Amino acid sequence: MTASPTDSFERKIDYLRLSVTDKCNLRCTYCMPEDGVPKLDHSEILSYEEVLTLARIAVGMGISKIRITGGEPLVRKDIITLCSKISNIPGIKSLSLTTNGVLLPIFAESLFKAGIRRINVSLDTLNPEKFAAITRHDRFADVWEGILAAEKAGIFPIKLNAVVLRGVNDDEIEDLAGLTISHPYHVRFIEHMPFKAGEGDGHEKKFVAAPEILERLKRVAPLSTCQENQSNGPAVYYRFRDAPGKIGIISPVSDHFCPSCNRLRVTAEGKLRTCLFSTEETDLRGALRNNLPIEAVSEIIRKAIARKPEKHELSSPVFRKCISRQMFSIGG
Ligand code: 5AD
Ligand code: SF4
Repeated sequence: MTASPTDSFERKIDYLRLSVTDKCNLRCTYCMPEDGVPKLDHSEILSYEEVLTLARIAVGMGISKIRITGGEPLVRKDIITLCSKISNIPGIKSLSLTTNGVLLPIFAESLFKAGIRRINVSLDTLNPEKFAAITRHDRFADVWEGILAAEKAGIFPIKLNAVVLRGVNDDEIEDLAGLTISHPYHVRFIEHMPFKAGEGDGHEKKFVAAPEILERLKRVAPLSTCQENQSNGPAVYYRFRDAPGKIGIISPVSDHFCPSCNRLRVTAEGKLRTCLFSTEETDLRGALRNNLPIEAVSEIIRKAIARKPEKHELSSPVFRKCISRQMFSIGG
């Protein structure tokens, strides 16, 4: 097996997040404007053949974990076929999916059969009305049914992601965390990141920092830290005593997780981003459409990895002005 590539800061890069669409069937206020966004033309989006070629090249380079993201990946036609082809690439260790859960009741079982073992579902609230207000669609019941369907299908772990917003869902921190006691789900609280969404820049008013979230949770019941915190990934994990699920805190703003970052992202139109907040992108679509040999595409990726920034400067207002994309077009 090929050793994973490393960047200039000795970080092992073994994880690729592949966005397969910029479309979404929800309109979360912190992510998209109400009327949606200009759609990319179909020809601009990588075809499944191109996505698969890219996935094969990445795995061949030692990138062994792939996550399918969007927009909302389940709205793209034939997504199950793509998943099953990717999960059959020799050398791949893990194929996972990030979804808003709306279509999970339909797809959970076939996703499992197609090789998806791990999923992340966005779930900012347990209150159906609030869900409708945040996402501008009345689909809470579908999402909850979808989470249960995923569990029944055998998908594990199921990670539920909540973006904490002051005055919106911060009163639910305790209830959401309580899900880890009643279900084997991992609930992860994410600090709001200052991407420009439809609502103007409400970041300062809505932002709840990770230490505040943690303090609130500690008041519910004693929390112990989890062993696997040493492993890769942005979340720091805790557990209530005897709870089947874990609580994760993801603090992209108040604390850098950059030193342990192991990931690359490819947007739906085939732009490689080595950092969520990159201002630089590397076009892979052109390379694929020009039929460059595998080694040449690998070399382009390797060169981009070598330029992966050491860290983002999210706490700097100047840096924030440079944020070029919104979350739906990066894939989270
Ligand atoms: N800040 C933090 N998380 C965000 N997401 C979307 N926009 C933001 C933001 N501005 C989350 C979604 C989803 C994941 C893909 O990214 O809630 O869980
Ligand atoms: Fe869609 Fe996810 Fe953006 Fe919500 S956060 S609008 S579910 S892409």
